[in-house]
Amino acid sequence: MSNIHVIDHPLVQHKLTLMRRKDASTNSFRRLLGELATLMAYEVTRDMPLSDIEIETPLETMTGKVIDGKKLVLVSILRAGNGFLDGMLDVVPGARVGHIGLYRDPATLQPVEYYFKMPSGMNERDVIVVDPMLATGNSASAALARLKQTRPRSIKFVCLLAAPEGIATLQAAHPDVPIYTSAIDRQLDEHGYILPGLGDAGDRIFGTK
Ligand code: URA
Repeated sequence: MSNIHVIDHPLVQHKLTLMRRKDASTNSFRRLLGELATLMAYEVTRDMPLSDIEIETPLETMTGKVIDGKKLVLVSILRAGNGFLDGMLDVVPGARVGHIGLYRDPATLQPVEYYFKMPSGMNERDVIVVDPMLATGNSASAALARLKQTRPRSIKFVCLLAAPEGIATLQAAHPDVPIYTSAIDRQLDEHGYILPGLGDAGDRIFGTK
């Protein structure tokens, strides 16, 4: 599969396994998700552009490399995406944050947008979209289509777990958007849950159930 990056670092895999366990508390699930997001951010931002600045060390002047974090936008697909944000912001604290809210129309089963808020100047920004679970891929696909209307410089999609069905949907609709995940699971069940998965990510992050 092209354009898919599975982040198989041992720390990521270890924390993912702890999160999958059904007896993980809300507290530890949320903490582990934050830690995983930080580790994943490290890989996802690997190709961020650097620029040169002159600085003075205690001994002499030198040219150092810096990233322009303000050019980066982290976009959370509500609500579970918010569980990813803080861990990512720990690595790129200057990043801007956008939110997209979608719900599934029970009659048509199609995603309907109820919230969309982005920073200004999107055409000069690189976007990282975060949503822990890439299941059917329908909302992620709709979110990316809406986001593309703002003409960002680049888009990446980051999730914790992906189902093969969701990857296929996203790649068919948005072959230009690389997908980063920590695992590709087996399949979806008849309710759209990822198997073996970790359950409802939003409920587990926020302790709602
Ligand atoms: N969303 C979730 O939170 N979990 C799944 O398994 C699928 C979609």
